[in-house]
Parts: sequence; C-alpha cells; structure tokens
Amino acid sequence: MNIVVIGTGYVGLVTGTALAEVGHQVVCVDLDAVKVAQMRDGKSPIYEPGLEDLMRTNGAYGRLMFETELGEAVKDDSVLFIAVGTPQSEDGSANLDYILAAARGIAPFVNDATVVVTKSTVPVGTNDLIADTIATACGTRPMMVSNPEFLREGSAIHDTFYGDRIVIGTAHEEAASVMREIFAPFAIPIFETDIRSSEMIKYAANAFLATKISFINEMADMCEWKDADIEAVSAGIGMDTRIGSKFLQAGIGYGGSCFPKDTKALIAMAREEGARLPLLDAVETVNAVRFEKMVEQLLTIHDDLRGKKVAVLGLAFKPGTDDMRDAPSIKIIEQLAAAGADVQAYDPIAVSAARKWLPSANAVKLYDTIEPTLLEADAAIIVTEWYEVKQLDLTVIKTMMRTPIVIDGRNCMNPEQMQEAGIIYRSIGRKNNDKIPVLR
Ligand SMILES: NC(=O)c1ccc[n+]([C@@H]2O[C@H](COP(=O)([O-])OP(=O)(O)OC[C@H]3O[C@@H](n4cnc5c(N)ncnc54)[C@H](O)[C@@H]3O)[C@@H](O)[C@H]2O)c1
Repeated sequence: MNIVVIGTGYVGLVTGTALAEVGHQVVCVDLDAVKVAQMRDGKSPIYEPGLEDLMRTNGAYGRLMFETELGEAVKDDSVLFIAVGTPQSEDGSANLDYILAAARGIAPFVNDATVVVTKSTVPVGTNDLIADTIATACGTRPMMVSNPEFLREGSAIHDTFYGDRIVIGTAHEEAASVMREIFAPFAIPIFETDIRSSEMIKYAANAFLATKISFINEMADMCEWKDADIEAVSAGIGMDTRIGSKFLQAGIGYGGSCFPKDTKALIAMAREEGARLPLLDAVETVNAVRFEKMVEQLLTIHDDLRGKKVAVLGLAFKPGTDDMRDAPSIKIIEQLAAAGADVQAYDPIAVSAARKWLPSANAVKLYDTIEPTLLEADAAIIVTEWYEVKQLDLTVIKTMMRTPIVIDGRNCMNPEQMQEAGIIYRSIGRKNNDKIPVLR
C-alpha cells in the first residue's frame, strides 16, 4: 500500500519505518528540512535502538523515502497518517495547532476515497475537527480513522512489532478494512471501536499508568514513615493478577513527552465540560513534587549545598531515549543550582539534547561518560536508571568521589552492596534510609 506519514518525530519515524519493513511503500514528510536531509542519509534524528538499521535497509529497498513537500509524496491512493506533535498549551489542554496545520496541508490531496489516520494523541472529538477542517478547505470529507500509538520510547521498534493491541476507531467499514490490511503483517490483535472511544482509549491508558506511578510513590512515602520496604510491597501486591506487577516501581515520578501532558489534557477536557477529575488532579499533585525528594534527601546528609559538587547521573526522562521533554533531571538540576551546588551531569545519549533544555546549561558541566562526572563529587543523584549506571563498579564511586554519597531516585542499586562498598546510600521507600550521619 502507498502510505504517507506526516511528521517524523518519535512516533512518525518509527511508524513509517515499521510500515516499510512489512512491505508498504512509505513516504515520510516533515517540515524540518534539516531532519529530512539527515533521514535521507539513513541517519535518525532521534535515538531509538534498532531504528537506523531499519531505516537504511528499507531506504535501500526503495520502500522508505523522505520529503519536505506533500506534493512530492502523496499519490491518489495514499493512506495519510498524521503523526505531528500535540504539545501542552499553557492552560494544560492539547495544542492542536500542528494537527490543524497538517489537516489544511493535506486538504488539496484528499479525494472521496482518501483514508486519513490520526496517530497523534488528540482530545476526543479532534478527528471530527480534522475532517471539518479538510472539508472546509477542499470540499471533500475524508474517511477518518483514529489509530492511537502506544509505543514506549527506548523500545519503540519492539513495541511496534510486538504491541499488545492495535486500536482502530472509525465510522467507515471501508477505512477499517484498509487498516486491517495495512496492519495484517504485524499479527497483533486489532481492537475496533468508534472514533471517539478510540481517542479516549489513548488518554485513559496513559492516565491509568500515571495513576499507578503516583499510587506506588505515595505507598513508598508510607513505607518510609512506617519502616516497611516498598520493593517488598510492590512484589507482594504485584503477584495479584488483578493488580499486575508492571508500573509499580517507586521513584521520582513520571516525566517524558506523554504522561504529564496527556493527564493534563484529560483534566482540561473535563474542564471544558464544566467538570473536574479529582483522582487525576491528585495523581498530578503527587507527581509534581516528587522530584523534590532528591534534594531533600541530600540535605539530610549535607546540610548546605553551596559550593558542593553534585553529580547527576542520567538526564533523559528514561533509559533508552534522548528525549528530554518534561525530564525530572531538568527540575532537579534547577533545584540544585538554586541551592548553590556545582552541578555536573552524565548521560550516555542525551547530552546534546539536554543543552537546550537546561536553563543554566552553560553552568552545568555535561559528560557522556560517568567517571569525570563523579570525580571529586560531594554527592551523586541517580535520575535515570541507564544500564551504564546500574552496572557501575562501586569502587569507582568510592574512590573517585570526595564523599561517596548516592541518592538513588530509581531504586536501581542494591542497598546491601552499596553499604558493603562503604557508600552512603539513600533510595526511595526502602529500608536503608536511616542510620546515615549528617555531614556538617
Ligand atoms: N513520543 C512518544 O513516545 C509518543 C507515544 C505515543 C503517542 N505519542 C503522540 O504522538 C504524537 C507525536 O509525538 P512525537 O513525540 O513523535 O512528536 P515530535 O514532536 O517528536 O515530532 C513531531 C514532528 O512533526 C513535524 N511536523 C509538525 N507539523 C508538521 C506538518 N504540518 N507537516 C509535516 N511535519 C510536521 C515536526 O517537525 C516534528 O518532526 C503526539 O501527539 C504524541 O502525544 C507520542
């Protein structure tokens, strides 16, 4: 099938590449000419394991192409996938400017038989708005399909080929049949529903996962107060199949390009109806202050951070990606800088992406190896549980740091091993947080 993907971010580029890999003829279109030139050279503008290899193979077979102009990409029978961003507006709602611009852009190429697929995460009712926008511009209403994306950055290729389900929402049987054909090679269960329910499924899924995270973080606080261990509690409740063991890792809360903005967008959707979502308000409230725990914990050991060298291990919002959008590291670094600390930060992948997100980027020393980050540091904070951090030789911490203090925001180190190595170690909701001297 001929497929055009509009927007080649984390979702569009992965989707387009995967659709080419299963044999479709795909053209990815992006406004960003620099990105397009890079992708034509077989280089991915984002870090995503396995993506570049697939881009190159499918490029070589002539199944995957990149354009800046829709006119160069669209054929009469092309299925048009919209995968542009839907960032957060100031009031928390989803900003639909890119979506509506894309709708106006494709309007001249739409005919009666055109299927337009919305992959972007959009508020309920947006597919109708896209169809209205296209119809106003060109007099033809395309067949709309909502096809929300559930990939996780860092394992996006795997998730695209081995996802739990593909959701298709449409009012047109003809369009549903086109979608079944496009996705048949993936052999993933397809769930078909109406267009608004499909739009809602994406928000409900992210809101539920965010709720799990805030819930377990609240339980971690409780464990600290009552001298219980959150790891044991997560394991013990996770064995209950009604609860499930995933998304029960206590830590510094959720970040990234989806959970924060999607929960806020859902709250904004309720607000439009004159309603509130008190549960999601609470999920947000719990998450909003989570990052503060890192510096708070550090201040119980070093009571003054002025002039102290603090190493931040991990900048990306999670391992496996270079995405810095809403990464907790940004707020933690701001807080450390405000407390007078000298910050040096490590990330194996996200250093160049981080520069434009850190307000005091020039003041923060950034490294893509761990050792110089730890050198003569008075404390280290683990913000992203990169493999390189988890497998770190503990003698490196002990010998390179001025004072071997590690605050682990991801509970990714073994408390006993840290203690045995002579490291002053704190983590979240685990039974290792007392008996630590205050260094004055
Ligand atoms: N990133 C994720 O993990 C993820 C997962 C599931 C769903 N989503 C949703 O998918 C959508 C895209 O997210 P993303 O992270 O890939 O976005 P992104 O910001 O990384 O990429 C968007 C791309 O669209 C391009 N673009 C914008 N307007 C365009 C236009 N009119 N024509 C052509 N290109 C245009 C931009 O240049 C950019 O390259 C969002 O709605 C997001 O919520 C994202």
